[in-house]
Amino acid sequence: SVVSIKVLLAGQREPGCEVTVQGWIRSRRDSKGGFSFLAVHDGSAQSAIQVVAPGELGNYEAEILKLTAGCSVIVSGDLVASQGKGQSVEIQAKQIEVCGWVDDPDTYPIAKKRHSFEYLRTVAHLRPRTNTFGAITRVRTVLANAVHRYFYERGFQWINSPLITASDCEGAGEMFRVSTLDLMNLPRSENGGIDFSEDFFGREAFLTVSGQLNAEAYCLAMSKVYTFGPTFRAENSNTSRHLAEFWMVEPEIAFANLDDDAALAEDFLRYLLAQVLEHCEDDLAFFNQFVDDGVLARLQKVASSSFERMDYSDAIKILEKSNKKFEFPVRWGLDMQSEHERYLCEEHVGGPLIVTNYPKDIKAFYMRMNDDEKTVAAMDVLAPGIGEIIGGSQREERLDVLERRMAEQGLEGLEWYRDLRRYGTVAHAGFGLGFERLLNYITGMENIRDAIPFPRTPKHADY
Ligand code: 4AD
Ligand code: MG
Repeated sequence: SVVSIKVLLAGQREPGCEVTVQGWIRSRRDSKGGFSFLAVHDGSAQSAIQVVAPGELGNYEAEILKLTAGCSVIVSGDLVASQGKGQSVEIQAKQIEVCGWVDDPDTYPIAKKRHSFEYLRTVAHLRPRTNTFGAITRVRTVLANAVHRYFYERGFQWINSPLITASDCEGAGEMFRVSTLDLMNLPRSENGGIDFSEDFFGREAFLTVSGQLNAEAYCLAMSKVYTFGPTFRAENSNTSRHLAEFWMVEPEIAFANLDDDAALAEDFLRYLLAQVLEHCEDDLAFFNQFVDDGVLARLQKVASSSFERMDYSDAIKILEKSNKKFEFPVRWGLDMQSEHERYLCEEHVGGPLIVTNYPKDIKAFYMRMNDDEKTVAAMDVLAPGIGEIIGGSQREERLDVLERRMAEQGLEGLEWYRDLRRYGTVAHAGFGLGFERLLNYITGMENIRDAIPFPRTPKHADY
């Protein structure tokens, strides 16, 4: 019966039984004794399983001796205790069927040697065959399931917010347009502008930058909800922390304030780290050995200690007092750049940090105005090595204040969103966790392009 390599390596089959595995050759080594060792992987585990191919196999000379990295095979044989170090079992093959050859082993782009992550991005369709991308893929899967489990076990409803929308949630004008209009023959309105009434949706439409506004609508009926899906930003930032298409987890809770929001963010993050520590032992050991030797210690520490909190105004004072030379200016009223965020959590706190109460002018219209009328009930969770990993806030639930803020920022419309304040409004709060940023934090990978299978960034939408 076909079994995954993970099951075999985990010792879930007794030596002596017959097994079949399906996978790809990672390497072949021929022994002088007239047999060969094949390392076969199938994506289920960090390690490959060792297959011993005896010279008696009917296709030994004709095929086995020609196997190279990347060939696909189906192996049947006896599971036996292994003499080799670092593995408990191996397969003594009785039959090896070669399914697919590698056309030209000399030009196979993923030959068995270590490649730079930069190079691997140019072969994104082949990089899942490497140890590193196998590991990232498995951790991403564990993490995504942990997200859903966390909320499901706590009574949250999962809201599938629309990917196509008319609202610019963050008001940053970073939206991709969705249109079926013929760019060469745009219909014009009377004043010469583009006439979107002729477009597919009869109005301007965009890819969503956040599911928050829709989540708020459901939160104010279902009490506890979350969205988890792709979001899109046409930011022209060619950095190691920004993608044009990334995944975001956005919980939204009713009858809740900023403290409740921060408590949820902390509990949620620590849960996710604990889940990865529990379910991704081998992959984390791999990252710790080959990518960032601080991975394990960091996760263990963060999963078991509480996060520091700090007011934005205090954070600015700390940055002003530090002797560090920053590239960007530090002043009350300015947004913090990632160098500032990283200084605060890496050098000042030495762990994750929740910064609260930012100046209203650098934050979105929906954040709740504080009594000082200068700051809003916002929070960012900052993580060492990454900077901002979560952004959230208590929402402005008072219609008059919301409308004042919208007017200040020149925002019109959103009648449906105002309705939520007209009919049974109540204090509520939520946040957005950047899924790829979290994945980088966990694995120690440096570039966010390596945290998503097929990254979308300026000038890159291949595959
Ligand atoms: O801080 P942001 O912009 O917050 C919002 O979108 C809110 N509507 C969320 C909410 O309150 N429901 O984004 C949230 C998080 C950031 O902290 C960051 O981790 C991630 O999303 N993020 C990005 N990740 C990758 N590439 C980008 N271009 C990102 N922009 C934001
Ligand atoms: Mg933010």
